[in-house]
Amino acid sequence: MVQLQNIVILTGAGISAESGLQTFRASDGLWCEHRVEDVATPEGFARDPGLVHRFYNMRRAQLREVEPNAAHHALAELCRDWPHGTVTLVTQNVDDLHGRALRDAGVVAEEHLIHMHGELCKMRHSVTGEVRDCHDALQPGDWRPHIVWFGEMPFEMDRIIDRVHECDLFISIGTSGNVYPAAGFVAEARGVGAHTVELNLEPSQGATLFAEHRYGPATEIVPTYVRLLMEHAGKT
Ligand code: OAD
Repeated sequence: MVQLQNIVILTGAGISAESGLQTFRASDGLWCEHRVEDVATPEGFARDPGLVHRFYNMRRAQLREVEPNAAHHALAELCRDWPHGTVTLVTQNVDDLHGRALRDAGVVAEEHLIHMHGELCKMRHSVTGEVRDCHDALQPGDWRPHIVWFGEMPFEMDRIIDRVHECDLFISIGTSGNVYPAAGFVAEARGVGAHTVELNLEPSQGATLFAEHRYGPATEIVPTYVRLLMEHAGKT
């Protein structure tokens, strides 16, 4: 049996759904209640910064009411216990649930976790670019949410692509595969011969690009898959 070494895991809103955070594209999702152009573009922010701040202030405040779920914890334990190469979590989520689960597991979050679309718990200075922690409501002024909006470049793309090119297992969890560049990582992973797996509630837009699929709620299928990986690691 070939031993897997480096694992890259891409996560999306579906992994946090059972913690109580809305996804984007469900019929009761965030993009049904809010117009993307108004709250998630630089132009929307220039037009009405108060509206944009209210949207992210509301989502930041929600983080105090939710906890990481069994899927976040299972991935954190995989980061801690994987005995071979590296485990990298690339998340499109701006919540802090992966970070909290990693810290609960005693793992240094920064070594494993890349927030490619930014973080609700950070703010960025519009002129200097300085980034600071932010746990309270923001008002119009010099600071903007540290969030990647449509038309902006996701963070840490070079590091992500390097990790994807080095991986032999690529797992996509709870993402609809609608938004690039994240939706393109599976093709990059296949290009270097990695095994590719989709874990989701239902087949995503790019489901056929994956070699293996498991469908169900993240809190069930993610811990099960992590257990299988650890068993596989123990046997080889
Ligand atoms: P979406 O809302 O597009 O997709 C969520 C996915 O999670 C869907 O495929 C659901 O089937 C799945 N899902 C829902 N509940 C689940 C559960 N309990 N267990 C497992 N899967 C579940 O969210 P994303 O794909 O994350 O970007 O969206 C990608 C990006 O689009 C976001 O990062 C955001 C958004 O616009 C920016 O704001 C830049």
